[in-house]
Amino acid sequence: MSVVLGVDIGGSGIKAAPVNLDTGELLAERMRIPTPPGAEPDAVLGVLGQLVRHFDHQGSIGVTFPGIVQQGRTLSAANVSKAWVGMDADAFLTRGLGIDFDVHLLNDADAAGLAEARFGAAQGVEGVVLVVTLGTGIGSALLHGGVLVPNTELGHLYLSSRNGKARHAESWASARIREEKELSYEEWGGRVSRYLQHLELLFSPTLFVLGGGISKKADKWLQYIQLQRSEVVPAALKNEAGIVGAAMYAAQHSPTLGEDGR
Ligand code: BGC
Repeated sequence: MSVVLGVDIGGSGIKAAPVNLDTGELLAERMRIPTPPGAEPDAVLGVLGQLVRHFDHQGSIGVTFPGIVQQGRTLSAANVSKAWVGMDADAFLTRGLGIDFDVHLLNDADAAGLAEARFGAAQGVEGVVLVVTLGTGIGSALLHGGVLVPNTELGHLYLSSRNGKARHAESWASARIREEKELSYEEWGGRVSRYLQHLELLFSPTLFVLGGGISKKADKWLQYIQLQRSEVVPAALKNEAGIVGAAMYAAQHSPTLGEDGR
């Protein structure tokens, strides 16, 4: 079995663990280092180096990024340094780590989507599945029959409000906003419901999987999520979905490894 290291770059922490690609399980306790203030590329590279050394890792690395990633280039940066925008981050990280193995980069919510479809709450679900991550930002992964349409960025939709002012979904309903505005779970659940109802209208998903840090406390808010037609469940892999999906993606895109990492 080849082991792939999955790394999840988040707004508050950078987390990593080696992943068993047959089962989706972590092969060692995950390590978390706080995201350096501003999340500048050099500082993030430094943290990645620490994580690779901590696990004494030799092999491919999958890395999630909280923005658009197209062919290894980071094209947006809502919650990290703007210096990432337009960078060939894949090449920057591979060179900077000075390792013989490739780094493979993908959007964080897309990684969570891949992991939930293969090992988690969306396994074997027919039709459209939307994985929505509620954290510092709002991320989305659109899947059909387990196949991902990358970079959907549905957290940046605008919703109309009663006073006619458009609301940016991420700035109104993310988990960060719940904390900052000290919203009760009921109030916040109402906002998330309003947002998901709009997504339901647009995509008619069979299932919504709600992920991000908040998925650990689903018993507090799931009851407040109201939808017309779609089922809604918390992410089964909880906050580990990013790490697992990053490792899966690296295995799929590494010339020396099969899809299962062998
Ligand atoms: C970014 C997305 C990301 C999400 C969650 C948004 O602000 O635009 O790319 O998936 O935050 O981190």
